[in-house]
Amino acid sequence: MPPAPADDPGEAAAAPAPGPRRVLVAYATKHGSAAEISGAIAEELRSAGLDVDVRQAGDVQSLRHVDAVVLGSGLYSATWLREANRFVRVHRAALRKIPVWLFSSGPLDRSADFDDIPMTPHVAEAVGGLPIRGHRTFGGRLVPDAPEVAAGIIATHRTGDFRDFDAIRAWAGEIAAALTA
Ligand SMILES: Cc1cc2nc3c(=O)[nH]c(=O)nc-3n(C[C@H](O)[C@H](O)[C@H](O)COP(=O)(O)O)c2cc1C
Repeated sequence: MPPAPADDPGEAAAAPAPGPRRVLVAYATKHGSAAEISGAIAEELRSAGLDVDVRQAGDVQSLRHVDAVVLGSGLYSATWLREANRFVRVHRAALRKIPVWLFSSGPLDRSADFDDIPMTPHVAEAVGGLPIRGHRTFGGRLVPDAPEVAAGIIATHRTGDFRDFDAIRAWAGEIAAALTA
């Protein structure tokens, strides 16, 4: 039998506690890029006075004390990593009751700097039914000596760091503004 969801459907509906709003930035990563993006988002949210926790998606047991979530993942074959998809499945009931923003990090080129790249069909399917407040695709990073990446992958993918941290921080600023309005 599958494990029971960690969140009971009513828990996020409790009256908000006084003090700064608590935001969880959760991520799934293979090579650390989405983790660094999450760190930059968290810094920006904190500088707006929010109480922010940054965690690997798989380490989150409950959203009981969380008022808003930012969830992101590196893209592999146009799909979020399993940990991010599992996070959505396990916490779906709670995620339906709080504001949720999503990011994907992937393109190994500058396309994300110029275009608003929508979530991939796989990601859209994974998060379907959730009232998402926003999604952004940011450029990705692949370093030539990435551990556990086969030489064939490095040979067929562009390497480099295509993340735009100004754009990432600006997006986090929009989230902060929405949460502190
Ligand atoms: C095997 C492999 C497959 C990838 N597939 C995609 C993809 O389908 N779409 C995309 O935008 N980026 C793709 N990328 C680029 C990664 O998403 C990018 O390197 C990202 O920054 C990785 O995030 P992470 O370090 O947090 O895991 C791929 C990279 C590798 C190594």
